[in-house]
Amino acid sequence: MHAFARRLPDTLSPRAIFEHLDRFVIGQERAKRALAIAAYNHMRRVGLRGAPRPAASAGLLKKSNVLLIGPTGCGKTHLARHLATALDVPFAVVDATEYTEAGYHGRDVEQMVTELLLAADQDAEACGRGIIFIDEVDKIARRTHGAHTGAGARDIGGEGVQQSLLKLLEGREVFVPLSHAQGFARQDFVTVDTTDILFICAGTFSDLRPAPGEERALGFNRRACGEGAPAARIGARELCEFGMLAEFVGRLPVIVELEPLGEDEMLEILTTPPDSIVREFRERLALDGVAVEFETAALRRVVEHANRRGLGARALRGILEEVMGDVMFRAPELDDDRLLIDEAFVVEQLAALSG
Ligand SMILES: Nc1ncnc2c1ncn2[C@@H]1O[C@H](COP(=O)(O)OP(=O)(O)OP(=O)(O)O)[C@@H](O)[C@H]1O
Ligand SMILES: [Mg+2]
Repeated sequence: MHAFARRLPDTLSPRAIFEHLDRFVIGQERAKRALAIAAYNHMRRVGLRGAPRPAASAGLLKKSNVLLIGPTGCGKTHLARHLATALDVPFAVVDATEYTEAGYHGRDVEQMVTELLLAADQDAEACGRGIIFIDEVDKIARRTHGAHTGAGARDIGGEGVQQSLLKLLEGREVFVPLSHAQGFARQDFVTVDTTDILFICAGTFSDLRPAPGEERALGFNRRACGEGAPAARIGARELCEFGMLAEFVGRLPVIVELEPLGEDEMLEILTTPPDSIVREFRERLALDGVAVEFETAALRRVVEHANRRGLGARALRGILEEVMGDVMFRAPELDDDRLLIDEAFVVEQLAALSG
């Protein structure tokens, strides 16, 4: 069982957080920086509040909940998960579409805190400074103008869920049942204050982002500003037009846009991070006494294939599993203890798959 740090890791600077993220998350430099700063401010704020004599500035540090916007499979969940490990705080992922406003059939938003308490091993104090990652927030946009879905004027859920999230995002006390699976009686509750819980919301907001190859319609575009200039920003106004409540957007002061991943980045994702897929295959085959090498050209083919699926880096694992299926099946029986996966092999396997 993992015990979360009792003391706040007061030495973790934005740079240290960034460097931790950088080991696991490829590309997305701006997002990593923005998230490192937001997390740093958050921890500072939590630290000041906990001090014996709260500093005068404590009240000035506002809560820095985050909104991540980016295409599917570009690393939104991945980033948040690694942020939680960097900060050594409990982390829960919840899906906005599974919740309803109070009184409707479905989960109450307060249950998000129950999830976090579970991730915190029922430690209410650790839970109180954890991270809740709310995925698919673009799916709880107000639907009344029907512009984004054609769903018409019916609005159960959407706006109501945003409404019921407001208090939670800002900070309120929630009574959370302790899991009786862990030996607590059914009626045991703890109070968790959500003021110091960092909320990271995420969504693709695909209508707000340009299609591949298209110039962004809003604001400045990067090409016009030159490389390295801040890319066009999706701001509160665009989010409100999309169907998010102004009060909801107002509680997510840090808006971070992630970029679609390029081919080189996808290749790096396959090979570089400590938990990369290629490393994992090497380990797995090593257990069968086989040392496997992958040609770069072969991996490029995997990346090209993944890009055709349009699921970002998410497709990489599945494709490599398919390509390696036969090898994995026969690995324990192979006579050779060395194996090279070359381009021709990958092309052949991929052709067999699509054929
Ligand atoms: N920038 C990245 N660096 C390293 N790995 C990545 C990156 N982006 C995605 N991945 C890999 O792809 C997988 C899927 O990414 P992730 O779950 O973060 O996508 P997402 O942006 O949350 O997409 P969705 O909008 O569909 O939820 C991750 O588990 C990770 O292995
Ligand atoms: Mg995700």
